[in-house]
Amino acid sequence: MKKITYNFKDRTAIITGGAQGFGLDIAKRFLVSGANVIIWDMDSEMTDKAVKDLDNPNLSSNKIDVSNFKEVQECTNEILKKTNIDILINNAGITGPTATLWEYDIEIWKKVVDINLMGTFNCCRAIVPNMIKKNYGRIVNVASVAGKDGNANASAYSVGKAGAIGLTKSLGKELADKNIAVNAVTPAGAKTRILDQMTKEHVQRMLSKVPRGRFLEVEEFTSLVCWLSSEENTFSTAAVFDISGGRSTY
Ligand SMILES: NC(=O)c1ccc[n+]([C@@H]2O[C@H](COP(=O)([O-])OP(=O)(O)OC[C@H]3O[C@@H](n4cnc5c(N)ncnc54)[C@H](O)[C@@H]3O)[C@@H](O)[C@H]2O)c1
Repeated sequence: MKKITYNFKDRTAIITGGAQGFGLDIAKRFLVSGANVIIWDMDSEMTDKAVKDLDNPNLSSNKIDVSNFKEVQECTNEILKKTNIDILINNAGITGPTATLWEYDIEIWKKVVDINLMGTFNCCRAIVPNMIKKNYGRIVNVASVAGKDGNANASAYSVGKAGAIGLTKSLGKELADKNIAVNAVTPAGAKTRILDQMTKEHVQRMLSKVPRGRFLEVEEFTSLVCWLSSEENTFSTAAVFDISGGRSTY
């Protein structure tokens, strides 16, 4: 696939869950396009590995749990002492186990929603004031086709992602009179480590619903995120961009 390079020079991007999978690929493409990238991830081992492997002076990281607002706010304050934050990719997420709603462990259900929805809220809550001040920002919230369709045996995940879609539509409208775009993306299954959290049968069922008949490649996903994060996206906001290989019908 031929990759377009974007101009992210002098832009600082925070990518949550950037230590691996989608987030890491987005980080790589942002760096090639000239951005300063800060990975926020709670997996310090994978984060350290990513920073070491990429070995780029424009890349740094913080070990952070996005579901903890205090941590997010403190980390934001530290970064803002040095630079503005122009781009926020709310990508950190977990699926949680495969289980029916009536058998789901209550604490784990809350945790899945906390990370997928409250994590997105926390990062927007902490960073948007800086974007307003500078009248510039691009926010991409990584939801999922599960948030539109609702996957059986994944109620917490579907709810967390549906919530992130609602948050995107609401916040996008609140900021629409400024040069700040807030959009959500809804990928279908891609072969990243997150799939290990679900049963093989569940993953196979997800794949069987995709008319393209294959998994999404991380690079295909990054392409969409790049455009939404770029200065070129001057009009689209409060919207949901589908990348489900034909699965979603709306
Ligand atoms: N891969 C897929 O099939 C798929 C499909 C649809 C949506 N998504 C979404 O894409 C996003 C990225 O997923 P991925 O496939 O790259 O998975 P991944 O497991 O490879 O990466 C997720 C990253 O998020 C981090 N993370 C998890 N909880 C965190 C927290 N509380 N605070 C900070 N970091 C945290 C993890 O440590 C990990 O590095 C997720 O939001 C996921 O729900 C993935």
